[in-house]
Amino acid sequence: MTETANDTSTCPLCDGTGWTLVLEDGVEIARRCECAEDRLRRRAVERAHIPDRYRHCTLDDFELWNPEDPTLGKALREVQEFVDLFPNTDKGLVLMGPVGTGKTHLAVAALQQVLAEKRPGVVGRFADFTSLVLEIQMTFDGSGGSREILKPLVECDLLVLDELGAGKTSPWVMDLLYYLVNSRYLENRLTIFTTNYSDFPKKAGEESLTDRVSQRIRSRLWEMCRRIELRGRDYRAERLAGREGGLLR
Ligand SMILES: Nc1ncnc2c1ncn2[C@@H]1O[C@H](COP(=O)(O)OP(=O)(O)OP(=O)(O)O)[C@@H](O)[C@H]1O
Ligand SMILES: [Mg+2]
Ligand SMILES: [Zn+2]
Repeated sequence: MTETANDTSTCPLCDGTGWTLVLEDGVEIARRCECAEDRLRRRAVERAHIPDRYRHCTLDDFELWNPEDPTLGKALREVQEFVDLFPNTDKGLVLMGPVGTGKTHLAVAALQQVLAEKRPGVVGRFADFTSLVLEIQMTFDGSGGSREILKPLVECDLLVLDELGAGKTSPWVMDLLYYLVNSRYLENRLTIFTTNYSDFPKKAGEESLTDRVSQRIRSRLWEMCRRIELRGRDYRAERLAGREGGLLR
């Protein structure tokens, strides 16, 4: 969304200045107008790097579509509670579960709602683990370049790190990811992780989250986050396919 001069010039509250005068204890003081706050919030959503495919996601449109799956309703309630509490909570979220169960949907919905409704100025970022690993690997030596990539992710108020543990990593990339997670841990910054990996893989030979991201990252996760497990079926396969005559979105 691009801004136009019209965004403010039509505002009846501030006459397009972005500021209103209010009386406080008999003294007139300048306050940022609602329209300016809305603009800041919209900008924050635009700068969060949310993939287009997930921009439509809200908590309101998360369907409790499978009555046999109590984890859907529980997950939705817990994510809503996180949003309601934000920023007054010390726990982020880890959304765990199989493919297509709505983990990314819920994580993005939470991020967008926080940016749209909480105090303007909250900085949020979405990062996909696999792309992040690739970006870091492209800096080759792991020096200055990778720190530049990680800086906004270390510093933002709310980070969504999607698909934790996916793809191929190397020990030095893992060290940088540890730096990211540990920096946020030390500063009590809130993070929502999603992952396909669990602590107790169902099938023999399948890797656990610890296998994928190392014990030191995993143990910080549990301290930083509440765990939310989705155990149900694949929404893509069952709902989107049915709705669109067998074609997946
Ligand atoms: N309960 C739901 N209500 C509405 N839409 C849903 C629901 N669950 C999933 N979706 C939609 O289905 C698609 C797949 O969901 P999503 O990408 O969130 O799954 P995921 O658990 O992150 O899967 P993966 O492990 O493959 O990343 C998305 O378009 C999402 O918006
Ligand atoms: Mg996902
Ligand atoms: Zn205004």
